[in-house]
Parts: sequence; structure tokens; C-alpha cells
Amino acid sequence: MKEKDQLGFIHRFIPSVHHTQGRSMTLLLLHGTGGNENDLIQIARMIETAGASILSPRGKILENGMPRFFRRLSEGVFDIEDLKFRTYELADFLQNASKVYKFDPEQTIAVGYSNGANIAASMLLLRPEALAGAVLFRAMVPFEPESVPNLSGKQIFMSAGLHDPIIPSRRTKDLLYLLRKTGSNVSLKWQNSGHQLTQSDVSEAREWLSASFTA
Ligand code: MLT
Repeated sequence: MKEKDQLGFIHRFIPSVHHTQGRSMTLLLLHGTGGNENDLIQIARMIETAGASILSPRGKILENGMPRFFRRLSEGVFDIEDLKFRTYELADFLQNASKVYKFDPEQTIAVGYSNGANIAASMLLLRPEALAGAVLFRAMVPFEPESVPNLSGKQIFMSAGLHDPIIPSRRTKDLLYLLRKTGSNVSLKWQNSGHQLTQSDVSEAREWLSASFTA
């Protein structure tokens, strides 16, 4: 079996066009419920135009045939034990993938949508060293941590829909307040939209990413 087949997640890896020149930002793409490893690649290319590497796993949980990154009991009610287990599993996958594909694990930025954004937020809380930052589209507090982790130095961009029927704005704000308490550099943009991503999510994420990571 090839090394890449032993990583434990169905995934795609697309190396950076600059890989051999020491430019090694990697985007960890985390799709929403019912998505797969192909879903966010086009969006990633729109928000990061310099050609970063892309690692895009498929969530292992199936909910009525729809891939997710962790179990939920009902909409917005998470199975916290499974969420934590899956968060560690995903962080281990990321670390192992960095060795197989030879990218710099310290320059990885998660780009998550909905369920993928929620597990990215969980990874920031449970395995902060795994990520340099995150773009969180339509995220909420994944769980209440027992103690607030130190996320100083992490760059986090949140983008939320004012009329999102799945992620209530209060739960997005709770995540913002929690991330502020960690000392991270977090910003939140409200979109005049629902749960679906819009052009404005993409353009504001692009602006934020280029200002935060390519000085
Ligand atoms: C979740 O389950 O993570 C959220 O409810 C968003 C979603 O529907 O995926």
C-alpha cells in the first residue's frame, strides 16, 4: 500500500506551484455536510491566487449517505465525544500528510465551510499547534472548552450569513467572543446572505488572506 493510502482519509493533495522554492503555505480544505474533497478546491483557488498547496480530505462520518467530519445528534446539536475524537484524528492526518507530501505543517491554514468550519474551530481549540490560521465560513461554537486555549499569533477570518437558517447569528457571535478571549487575531464579516457562500464571502476572504499571510 502506498504511503498516501495509509493516511486514513480519502483526500486530494495538490502541491504548490512554488513547492520547490520554499513557499509552502498549505490550505486544509474542509467541506460542509454532504460535500466531498472536490467541493472547495475552486473556492480555494479564488481566495488564494499565489498557488498554495491544497490538502482536501473527505469527512468520514456518513449521515444518510452524506459525508461529514463528526456526528451530530440533530441540527446544531453535536456529539461532543465524537467531535473531539474526530478533531484529534483529523489533526493527526494533517501532521502525517505533511510528512508524506513534504509541506510545512506550521504554515497550514484551514478553509472550512459549515460542518468543515466547525471542525476547524474545534481543531483551533483542541490542537492549536496544528494550524497557523483559519478561514471559517458559516461557523459556530463547536463545544465549550473547559479552559480557554492560548491562540495568540493565530489569524482567523470568520464570514457569516445574516439570514443563515442553519447557523443562528448568536452562535456565530459566541464563537467570535470565544476566539477573542484566546488572544487570536480574529475578524468577522457579515454577509447579506443565508447559508450558501456568495461572491462577497470569497472576495473578503481573499483580501483577508493576502493581508494576513503574504506580507
Ligand atoms: C454542523 O452540523 O456542523 C452544522 O450544523 C452545519 C451543518 O449543517 O453542517
